Amino acid sequence: MKIEQARKYHKIDAVIVGAGLAGLRAALEVARSGLAAAVVSKVYPTRSHSGGAQGGIAAALANVSEDSLDAHMFDTIKGSDYLADQDIVEHFVNEAVNTVYEFEHMGVPFSRTADGRINQRPFGGHSAPRACFAQDITGHVLLHTLYEQCLKHNVLFFSEFQVLSLLVQNDVASGLVAWDIREGGLHIFHAKTVLLATGGYGRAWKVTSNAHANTGDGVALVLEAGLPLEDMEFVQFHPTGLYKHGILLSEAARGEGAYIINDRGERFMKNYAAAKMELAPRDVVSRAEQTEINEGRGIGGRDYVYLDLRHLGREKILSRLPQIHDLALNYLKADSIKEPVPIQPTAHYSMGGIPANIRTEVIKDAAGTVVRGLYTAGEASCLSLHGANRLGTNSMQDAATFGRIAGAHMTEFCRQNVFADLPTKPLDVAQGKIDRLWSGSGLERHAPIREELQENMTKHMGVFRNQDDMLRMLGIIKELQERYRKVGVDDRGQAFNLDLIEALELENLLSFAEVIVEGALARKESRGAHFRSDFPKRDDANWLKHTLAWRRDGKIVMDYGKAVVIYPQYQPQERKY
Ligand code: FUM
Repeated sequence: MKIEQARKYHKIDAVIVGAGLAGLRAALEVARSGLAAAVVSKVYPTRSHSGGAQGGIAAALANVSEDSLDAHMFDTIKGSDYLADQDIVEHFVNEAVNTVYEFEHMGVPFSRTADGRINQRPFGGHSAPRACFAQDITGHVLLHTLYEQCLKHNVLFFSEFQVLSLLVQNDVASGLVAWDIREGGLHIFHAKTVLLATGGYGRAWKVTSNAHANTGDGVALVLEAGLPLEDMEFVQFHPTGLYKHGILLSEAARGEGAYIINDRGERFMKNYAAAKMELAPRDVVSRAEQTEINEGRGIGGRDYVYLDLRHLGREKILSRLPQIHDLALNYLKADSIKEPVPIQPTAHYSMGGIPANIRTEVIKDAAGTVVRGLYTAGEASCLSLHGANRLGTNSMQDAATFGRIAGAHMTEFCRQNVFADLPTKPLDVAQGKIDRLWSGSGLERHAPIREELQENMTKHMGVFRNQDDMLRMLGIIKELQERYRKVGVDDRGQAFNLDLIEALELENLLSFAEVIVEGALARKESRGAHFRSDFPKRDDANWLKHTLAWRRDGKIVMDYGKAVVIYPQYQPQERKY
């Protein structure tokens, strides 16, 4: 064992990768039980992308109108285009209410009704006002509150660490190896349990609402470890990305009554989802918007439409939606009090990810065989709660609820098991990645390859897909992977070597992007966010099933043996809004 080569060796009960809502909530659960929990994160915790979530966290509290757990369950299933596993949805809605009250007791400053209850606003695809919110900075306040709680309970933080390899052998996880971004050097984290809570991977696209850190490192590590990914073809486009930047303008705007209009000033959603209008689910609204743009009714015939908040008035905009107002003003010089704001669909959320069971244990096949000690939660995971399309505000709830559930199961596992042995050469894979980049020919640079990937994913793997575009994209990815082999990193520095980090991230982007395209090419139907103009109908007879995908001998291999869990009372129906 070459542990002595590592800058440091740590032995910790539970190691959690990712400091967003899922990771922090899990860490808190473990730490409260008295066990040692460490959060390893490539960004400082309060910079995690959960802080960018704006509009709310869903729970059927029924604080402002009638609501029920059944209604939340049905809306989530219908929103998922019937691909969600219904046992997972049931568990989720049952736990969601507690999750919100627990946050309230931790001190989260929720916006309130006049009589002091947690206020709730409407959101797309939800049949009742269900989004508990704090203005339009809900993710920010949840993240900060959780971080404070973690500090109070002595969670250990390893901030600015890039995980380079998972230590999994014979279906047992024993830890991971990470690079210390601040000081350089490899660290071995020897753990009884590992949680992957690394968030989404929107940075494979050029126009995305995702933070720069969202490069899918967790999902790529899982592929590299010989484990599968699930339903990766389902990627959500949020309808109100700030034009060109892709930055999120929360659906809360529409929840508060904002319109979306085309070049003719029409609220065109009346032609696509007359009953729900702008509050149809995101897949429906994004397709409507893209159709308007494609058919020449974008503003001035261009590739954007308008989000119009003017009728809400200054007081409401500044009190309920201050962040949206600032973002539009700062990035586009658009004052939403006085003028409509240019928007376009933006790559926002990954429904697919690391397959796991209801206990958040990572599984390695369609039979549900568990990788012992390995867990996943939040956007990196696929339980599958969101199926083919997630409803807004279900993601923060998912992250917090299944983060807590993961923490509880990890605690139980730690109490019942000893530390598994590390592989004989734990550093080899991680060290190999660094060595390869430092000795690479340098004939290629990582930045242009990343840019080409992002531009082409936005062009070919957007709201609408078809076979020709996807085949072209697959060819581009293969070519970029080939070029990546010639990438070299000049900077040999140890401290904050971002040249190295970005090159490492690019390998991950190229790896999971291939799975997305292969999965989308294979799935010859349209369902939720996966819309193929060459197969525009949902096909339950052939495709009501999950995709599992592995990388084997350099190729993506798929299996469809994992059935969707469907209850008798929620049989698939045609989805109308
Ligand atoms: O629009 C939003 O505020 C985003 C929320 C979400 O993705 O759940």
